[in-house]
Amino acid sequence: MKIFVAFYSKSGTTKRVAEEIAGVLTKKKHAVKLHEIVPVENLKAARYPKDGKGIRLAEPILELASFDFVFVGTPVWGFCPASPTLTFLRQLKGVKGKPFALFSTCTGLPGTTIKRMANILATKGAKIGESLTVKSIFELDRDAVNSIRKFAENALLKVP
Ligand SMILES: Cc1cc2nc3c(=O)[nH]c(=O)nc-3n(C[C@H](O)[C@H](O)[C@H](O)COP(=O)(O)O)c2cc1C
Repeated sequence: MKIFVAFYSKSGTTKRVAEEIAGVLTKKKHAVKLHEIVPVENLKAARYPKDGKGIRLAEPILELASFDFVFVGTPVWGFCPASPTLTFLRQLKGVKGKPFALFSTCTGLPGTTIKRMANILATKGAKIGESLTVKSIFELDRDAVNSIRKFAENALLKVP
């Protein structure tokens, strides 16, 4: 399958999870495109508009038509997806009918992060499947890495 793995990461944890997912899927012979969501202006988290409106992304409006499956990952900010992730999800094209798996990283209180991501995508006609929340207080240990691998594999087995 052609798989798109998009993530936003301010301090590297979500990036680490995204790379783990991409690594597992590449080993399974899928063609994976890893995409980092990059705001043009690199601000402190609290300086971005919370609803993601007005944030300019370095590579705006991506088209998913050529991909079979999409992963999107985000850090949790204030129990919600990080604002650049919201910008990205709103701009994304070719979402209709596409299967998605969602992941987040947080220190322990994910709030409605996955639900909010799913809602934005569902209104664009996405099919939402598996999701994973990784707690990031400690370095990713072996259990966390195993759960990420299992998530990546299961997401494709249970294509929504
Ligand atoms: C502005 C801000 C708000 C945050 N809000 C939450 C939160 O509501 N719940 C939580 O569990 N962690 C929260 N965190 C912690 C991050 O979600 C966590 O450290 C995450 O793994 C960071 O991902 P990154 O390294 O990919 O940027 C917050 C961090 C920042 C910077």
